Amino acid sequence: MNFSVKRVCCIGAGYVGGPTMAVMSLKCPDILINIVDVNQERIDAWNSDDLSKLPIFEPGLDDIVKKTRGRNLFFSTRIKESIENADMIFISVNTPTKKKGLGAGKASDLKWVEACAREVAKYSKGDTVVVEKSTLPVRTAEVIQKILYSSARKSGEEIKSFKVLSNPEFLAEGTAINDLLNPDRVLIGGDDEQSMLSLKEIYKEWVPEDKILLTNIWSSELAKLTSNAFLAQRISSINSISAICEVTGADIREVSRAIGKDSRIGSKFLDSGPGFGGSCFKKDILNLVYLADYFGLKEVANFWESVVEINSWHQNRIAKIVVNKLFGTVSNKKLVILGFAFKANTNDTRESAAINICKNLLEEGANLIIHDPKVTSSQIETDLHKRPINLLGIENSDLKEKSGEWCHIDTIDNIDIFDNAHAVIILTEWDEFKHINWNSIALKMDPPAWVFDARSIVKPKKVLDAGFSLWRLGDGFEDEKNIL
Ligand code: NAD
Ligand code: UDX
Repeated sequence: MNFSVKRVCCIGAGYVGGPTMAVMSLKCPDILINIVDVNQERIDAWNSDDLSKLPIFEPGLDDIVKKTRGRNLFFSTRIKESIENADMIFISVNTPTKKKGLGAGKASDLKWVEACAREVAKYSKGDTVVVEKSTLPVRTAEVIQKILYSSARKSGEEIKSFKVLSNPEFLAEGTAINDLLNPDRVLIGGDDEQSMLSLKEIYKEWVPEDKILLTNIWSSELAKLTSNAFLAQRISSINSISAICEVTGADIREVSRAIGKDSRIGSKFLDSGPGFGGSCFKKDILNLVYLADYFGLKEVANFWESVVEINSWHQNRIAKIVVNKLFGTVSNKKLVILGFAFKANTNDTRESAAINICKNLLEEGANLIIHDPKVTSSQIETDLHKRPINLLGIENSDLKEKSGEWCHIDTIDNIDIFDNAHAVIILTEWDEFKHINWNSIALKMDPPAWVFDARSIVKPKKVLDAGFSLWRLGDGFEDEKNIL
């Protein structure tokens, strides 16, 4: 195929830039793709010979990088050179919620996007298609367009031409490669037919044409925010019902199954859990709230804000339940936390429910042993804003003197880590937690030993037969099952 686009530059080598460009490089071997980032450490990790050291963990990503890196996929910090040589530039940088200034706490911080636009204006050769891959507020393309033209004019060089497209990414972490290879749809928003078709031409290499939707640019930007808001809203809805199940005797898993059979509702995204996390849901909903507020749509803003509020309430509720079940105090007690990532199959902890829940338990004085198969101790330290201490090297009598401390362990193969623990709390649905031998662990723990399963992944009978008390989200009859 003779592509009109020969050289692509992607600015931002993160959870979106890395996997999307890896898949594009696999499917379009004739296009040269340079992924650039300001973060040298991240780029070094992408270039590491040891593929287990890639900066993000995503099943299947290492195989693709192995095939295409050095062939038509390159990672570097050479931003100027890559922009200069590109026909098409994807902006795939972070757009977190603003921490200060106008719109703080709700609006997206566009400073990284703006910095990219200025670099593109400065270094591009002109006739360049700029593609928004980052999730952006509605009408951001217009802002990018203005920056591109005003900066280019200021540089006094010949007038460069830019076309801005919106091409939001719908991948979910943990399933990114499959989501990219078999997307439900690809959205291309814009008003310049030729540049839209040049992007469509790329996707057509592996995506059926009827799944590639062309829209106006603002519909595309708003559709991205709305998709995430709808998905998050389902989780807040089902989590709110789990609280009703617990007081009425209904079982949330049965309720989910029953409502999911309604073809109008559908069965996906109805698993009650510890509250949604990830870098997107909260940020994108708050963005929508800001947008609605800005346009004077207060009721609309309140509606969507409640989806975020109930999620925080739900996360806090879980820590409170743990404290209540452990006789009203966790102070000086050893608790084992299984899972810290915001979902399974990723090393990402951004907005993970585990952060709030662990912070709440540490504040209550618990000593936490935290294990996640892919999250490092230093990441947990950053998230908890607290240094770890070696709790495992401490005699049990001395441990009882400790309060609000934590440490990380790489593996739970050595079950001595459960010695004298009061509870095991499951916060991420990693497969390895589904196959735990509860019998041997129960013998190590202080009775009454508890399992708190916030992901509904354990087999209740196995846990109860081992002698544990069991709490699961939305489990109306849990008190009857407790063996004290
Ligand atoms: P990320 O933080 O993992 O990666 C962003 C990268 O951009 C970082 O490595 C950072 O160093 C780099 N960067 C920032 N400014 C730069 C600049 N001026 N020049 C060069 N590099 C720069 O973020 P992410 O998770 O990949 O998300 C990127 C965007 O995609 C966000 O807008 C997000 O909302 C959206 N998105 C994310 C997901 C997801 O699952 N993570 C899914 C869909 C959409
Ligand atoms: C989300 C969107 O799904 C994706 O389309 C978008 O591009 C980026 O944001 P991501 O955040 O990676 O993807 O993961 P997702 O699978 O949506 O899960 C988000 C959170 O919801 C996780 O904490 C997950 O555990 C939770 N969740 C998901 C539930 O609690 N129950 C469910 O049934 C599904």
